[in-house]
Amino acid sequence: MKDKIETLLNEVEKFSATSAEQAEHFRLKYLSRKGEISILFDEFKTVPSEMKREVGQLLNKLKISAQEKLDSFKSLGEAAAETASANDLTLPAVSFTGGRHPLNIVRKEILGIFGRLGFTVADGPEIEDDWHNFSALNFPEEHPARDMQDTFFIDKEVALRTHTSSVQVRVLEKTQPPVRIVMPGRVYRNEAVSARAHCFFHQVEGLYVDKGVSFADMKQVLLYFSREMFGEKTEIRLRPSYFPFTEPSAEMDISCTICHGKGCAVCKHSGWVEILGCGMVDPAVLKNCRIDPDIYSGFAFGMGIERITMLKFGVNDLRLFSENDVRFLSQFKSAL
Ligand code: DAH
Repeated sequence: MKDKIETLLNEVEKFSATSAEQAEHFRLKYLSRKGEISILFDEFKTVPSEMKREVGQLLNKLKISAQEKLDSFKSLGEAAAETASANDLTLPAVSFTGGRHPLNIVRKEILGIFGRLGFTVADGPEIEDDWHNFSALNFPEEHPARDMQDTFFIDKEVALRTHTSSVQVRVLEKTQPPVRIVMPGRVYRNEAVSARAHCFFHQVEGLYVDKGVSFADMKQVLLYFSREMFGEKTEIRLRPSYFPFTEPSAEMDISCTICHGKGCAVCKHSGWVEILGCGMVDPAVLKNCRIDPDIYSGFAFGMGIERITMLKFGVNDLRLFSENDVRFLSQFKSAL
């Protein structure tokens, strides 16, 4: 047995590996559970007791030297693993370069806030038919609101959606209440591009339909949202307004985030800035989606993501969001 150990010791010392496969071959041959050294340890039991000390020491020496040899091959394995990962496109990315677009940061934050209130996310198509964008939302055929929207028509029946309210109809047609959703997306309007208007922008629509949903519920949800988004001191106020798909309808202002009510250019010295439209879902809209308005009621709201982002980050020109200027974009940082 002594001879055998010495032969192996010799082999191990001489062994050299230039690749990870050879290192693995070495491990299997000498150090695995069925490898040469394990076998010798098994045989050790049969060594006569007067030899045990000497053979045992030799055997341990072999084991240690094989292990040291294997450790010296480790860098080969690492190099191999690095090459493997450089080639394996399915591995997750190690680091995240670049940053999120400010509109994306704010959209995520909006969805997060409503998510905490139990709103889930839904979406719908950007190319929309007349029914979902207008008719089902209670815009009569010749209603001036259809012009008001300044729509990009594709043909008489199909247009680029002018608002995300169309997604309310898409979801309500398919789902019986309770429905509690937020619907983010891009919308299009035929407007001249300026610092304050663009031909496309982004909205988040909200909708809650169930038994016994009230205007007070809406106010509380919107107050919670405003304070989460703009800080706990934020106040809201609702002004009566008109939308074909809500009754009653309102526009909501928040206390100016820039001057906190003292008066500045952003709030035009009123202390308030408008951030969204809202109201109780018109019973006609529920009927159009085959939901019984005698049983169910609901509220809806819609806000522009650009507007919220501009207020939150003090951006004063809408065009910056779509120009892809890195000097602008790199100022926004987010944790994933
Ligand atoms: N769709 C409206 C717009 O684009 C915004 C809006 C107002 C959405 C009131 C609503 C709402 O859901 O209830 O100007």
